[in-house]
Amino acid sequence: MESRARLQCLDTEPTSSATQLVEIEGVSLPRETEESWGQIQGFQARPDDLLICSYPKAGTTWMQEIVDMIQHGGDAQKCARAPIYQRIPFIDMFPPIPVPSGLEQAEAVPSPRTLKTHLPIHLLPPSFLEQNCKIIYVARNVKDNVVSYFHFHRMNRMIPEPGKWDQFLENFIAGKVICGSWFDHVRGWWEAKEHHPILYLFYEDIKEDPAQEIRKIAQFLGLELLEPVVNLIVQHTAFESMKTNPMANYITLPSSLLDHSVSPFMRKGTVGDWKEHFTVAQSEHLDTIYAQLLGDSSLTFRTQL
Ligand code: A3P
Repeated sequence: MESRARLQCLDTEPTSSATQLVEIEGVSLPRETEESWGQIQGFQARPDDLLICSYPKAGTTWMQEIVDMIQHGGDAQKCARAPIYQRIPFIDMFPPIPVPSGLEQAEAVPSPRTLKTHLPIHLLPPSFLEQNCKIIYVARNVKDNVVSYFHFHRMNRMIPEPGKWDQFLENFIAGKVICGSWFDHVRGWWEAKEHHPILYLFYEDIKEDPAQEIRKIAQFLGLELLEPVVNLIVQHTAFESMKTNPMANYITLPSSLLDHSVSPFMRKGTVGDWKEHFTVAQSEHLDTIYAQLLGDSSLTFRTQL
């Protein structure tokens, strides 16, 4: 009961301040994450934990809602039991304000747990791999991912201001943003799936054919879904539904933390919005960097549908 009461603190109006970034093994992370690094690395995963993992802004919340709906047989009422950040704790989240950390929330959730992380594979608490936990990784094409990250920095009062778009893009390419290099992140998890039970999914595929990807996830989780339930989940997790769902759209957090009037958390939800932000030169520059850093990988992304 006490931990439940503490979780409710997130819905109160705390004083906010942006964090500072520090490097851990070459990866930029919030200072609060570094201060709790021993605790994160010592986190005890359980064999029946499911981990949802992604680079920030790749469609994590979408995947969380889909997974929660699958786990509850398409029962939207059950998925309205709490905001998404309480239903699926974010283990590397240490807000720079006095509210429960993601790790404390994770401890409060009974097994079987579904948890979230944005950590690159080499910084993941080792117990997840030791316990052979199932992991779902969601990746998004780099151009839409960086645009979404830019707008998230504008509205998220807990992380630094992004500055101008062209400067943010350079910082992102250099990996000088929270969670470090997008290129290292997507590659690291892609290669890890050769050795661990990781379902590697793409934002663009979910957008194109959500029913097919929902069936894949259910199969990975060993759950059977009837077609009407698949259709229900498609509808419930469509962008327009999630945008107006207070249990999924982060509106329950105080505006001193996330200011949706600057840019809503559920912003566009499309493939190809990058074209509204990139100059031709920026797009070609990123293509060149991509070829240098991921050209030898079997990973492929689509920047339009
Ligand atoms: P945009 O900023 O491009 O709109 P994350 O959950 O990892 O922070 O990712 C957030 C991004 O996923 C945002 O992208 C958000 O709009 C998008 N998103 C969230 N729910 C979605 C849905 N149901 N369908 C499509 N995109 C979704």
